[in-house]
Order: sequence, then structure tokens, then C-alpha cells
Amino acid sequence: MRLHVPKQTRPGETRTPITPSAVKKLGKLGIDVVVQAGAGTGSYIDDEAYTQAGASVVEALDWGEADIVATLEPPTDEQAGAMKQDAVLIGMLEPLNPDGLFGVLKDHGVTAFSLELLPRISRAQSMDVLSSQANLAGYKAVMLAADHCPKMFPMMITAAGTIAPAKAFVIGAGVAGLQAIATAKRLGAVVEAFDVRSVTKEQVQSLGARFVELPTAAQDDASTGGYAREQTEEERRKQSALMSKHVIGADVVITTAAVPGKAPPMLIPADTAHQMAPGSVIVDLGASPEHGHGNCELTRPGEVHQTDHGVTLVGLTNLPALMPVNASQVYANNLLAFLGEIVADGQLKLDLEDEVQKGCVVTHRGAIVNDKIREAVESRA
Ligand code: NAI
Repeated sequence: MRLHVPKQTRPGETRTPITPSAVKKLGKLGIDVVVQAGAGTGSYIDDEAYTQAGASVVEALDWGEADIVATLEPPTDEQAGAMKQDAVLIGMLEPLNPDGLFGVLKDHGVTAFSLELLPRISRAQSMDVLSSQANLAGYKAVMLAADHCPKMFPMMITAAGTIAPAKAFVIGAGVAGLQAIATAKRLGAVVEAFDVRSVTKEQVQSLGARFVELPTAAQDDASTGGYAREQTEEERRKQSALMSKHVIGADVVITTAAVPGKAPPMLIPADTAHQMAPGSVIVDLGASPEHGHGNCELTRPGEVHQTDHGVTLVGLTNLPALMPVNASQVYANNLLAFLGEIVADGQLKLDLEDEVQKGCVVTHRGAIVNDKIREAVESRA
């Protein structure tokens, strides 16, 4: 059983899907790992470290020889097209924005698992790449905010006077938002947070932050698999107006509001951002290059910029790649956990009726087996 690890090539990508420690564990599962030279460079892992862990390192990876390809970013159509029939592809294949890739994988009889689709159930937590990466992003968002903020976060009583703590407002209390709250609290900021899902109130409060109560329709999770549903335009406008005083009063705003597969809700209009004090910072994790905005109207996805009025907007779209050592480590652990589900005694043991595999398989034996993705691909054809 050969598992191939390609070097990730997207601009700014520093992470690697498999670490040397994971290579050793894969060896125990009966899997031989072949790593493309330089795959670990961005994560400070040299080829020698992979070799010592038992992997073979090759300059050019032959995708046609792999039984399994473990990746982070989607492969090119050419790479996918080189895979052999019944080979397995595992990675973050961006299924909510399907382009031609799934058609190629289907045509070549590849079984593709897109880990973003893993069900958010207890058994799949150890494989949950969205959570492992968003957790790091929430932390880094606060680090970036603190770096760009001309004030310090903690309160300090000094001989030269008392320094008031910075005020942080976190919008969206999912995985990234909760880590942002915890990190901002640890740095000493006074933290407020809001989420449309009422279940988050207790989680926010348990981290020592104040939950902002807004008279908007609170959402109940049960019907949407733990995710928020998309708001109506009227709901969004109302929330945005009610939230504005909290945004304007904050030194730092971290936005993480998201509904999977939908445009990020635009919750901070330009005129609200313009009313923030000069020097304030918005870190917009919702920044979406595809939609050209984030949770704030002024965000430029992929960029950091400052308004004429001195408000800094951070719209970087791959914060986990700024912490590649940990991001690669936890991603590799997610992959290991998933591989533990589909490989036994050095053999593939697929069970597509199993809740975890069924949740994230997209193509299998010449068909797109995920209904939503098949419809999306067909509607674009
Ligand atoms: P998540 O799904 O766990 O959390 C999103 C939260 O937003 C949910 O709690 C949801 O209820 C809430 N939400 C939805 N609509 C809202 C609204 N109108 N007002 C307030 N809250 C609302 O997602 P996670 O993993 O925390 O990621 C959050 C966002 O950050 C996603 O868009 C994700 O793609 C993005 N992200 C960005 C990264 C970057 O480098 N820029 C890295 C990792 C994640």
C-alpha cells in the first residue's frame, strides 16, 4: 500500500499533509509513504527527516503509482487524471465550490474523500480538519490584531499611569471564534462576543467573555447539523445595525461568522467601520476571495490595508499557513485518524455505509456519490 504526499503548491501555502511522526505511525498500519522532495520545507521539515522516519523521498511524484494520495489542497485536474482506478484521494478538496476536479476524479474511478464534509460527530472529532485549522486561525487572528493594534491588550497600573485594557469584540463563536475569545482573554483584553446560535452563549461565558444579547432571531442548532442557517436580508441588516455600537466601541474586532457554502454574511458595513476609533483593527476571518468581501464591507480578501481614517483591516485568507508547524502537525493527525478508518492490515477497507466515510466521500467507482455535489457539478456543466 503506497501513500503519496505531494508538495503543496498554492501561493502562500506552507503546510504539509503528513509529518515525519505520522510517517512512522503509517508504517505501523502497513503503509509505505512516498514524499515529494521539499514537501515539508514550508513547515521546517527537511527531506532527511522524512527519510529517517521511513519514507521514500522522490523529486517527481508519479500520481499513477499511488494507492492513496494524501493532500491538503485540491490537486490539479492533470494530477487527478493521472491517478489509477480505485486509488483513494484524501484532502480538503473544496467541495462547496466544485469546479472540474470532481468530474475528472469520477471519470478516473478515483475514490475521493473531502475532509471538509466529515460529519461533526464525536467519533469524527479526531479527523476534523476544519476544527483543527480554525482553532489555529482563531489564535493567530488575535496575534495579528494585537500586532496591528497601537494599544496593548492587558490593563496595567504603572507609576506612569493606568493603561486601560483593550476591548475586543468577536463575532461568530464557532471553533475559530471561541479560540479567539480564549486567546484575547489570555492576553488581558476585555472581550465581548456574539453568535446567532443561542447555544454558544454558555460557551462564550465559560471563557470569561460577555455574550452580547441582541433581540434578533436566535437560531437553534438541531435542524442544521450544528451550523447556522443563512439569514434573510432583513435579519442580516437588523443584526448589523444592533451590533454596530459594539463594533464602534471595540479596539479590535475579530469576525468569524460563516454559514458553510454561502457567502460570508456582511455584518459590518463601511459606515460602521469608519466610525471606529483610528488605530482600531478588524481581523476578518470570513474574508472570501470568491465573494470579494468578508464579514466587513471594507475587507480586501488576501490583503492587509488601512483606511484613510486609520482603521486596519486584515483580510488574510490562510492564517493556519502562518503557523505551519502546528497546522501540519494537527492536519497530519487528522489524516492518521481518518486513515485508521479506511485501512486495516495494510489493505484498503472501505465501508461507504459507515457514517464517517459516507459523510465525506465525493466520488467512487465512476460516480459522484454525494448528491449535493453531483447536482452542483451538473448544473455548472
Ligand atoms: P464554524 O462553522 O465553527 O463557526 C462559524 C460561526 O459563525 C458559527 O458559530 C455560526 O453560528 C456563526 N455565525 C453564522 N452566521 C452568523 C451571524 N450572522 N452572526 C454571528 N455569528 C454567525 O466555523 P469556524 O471553523 O469557526 O470558521 C469560521 C470562519 O473562519 C469560516 O468562514 C472559515 O472559513 C474561516 N476561517 C478562515 C481562516 C483564515 O485563514 N482566514 C482559517 C480558518 C477558518
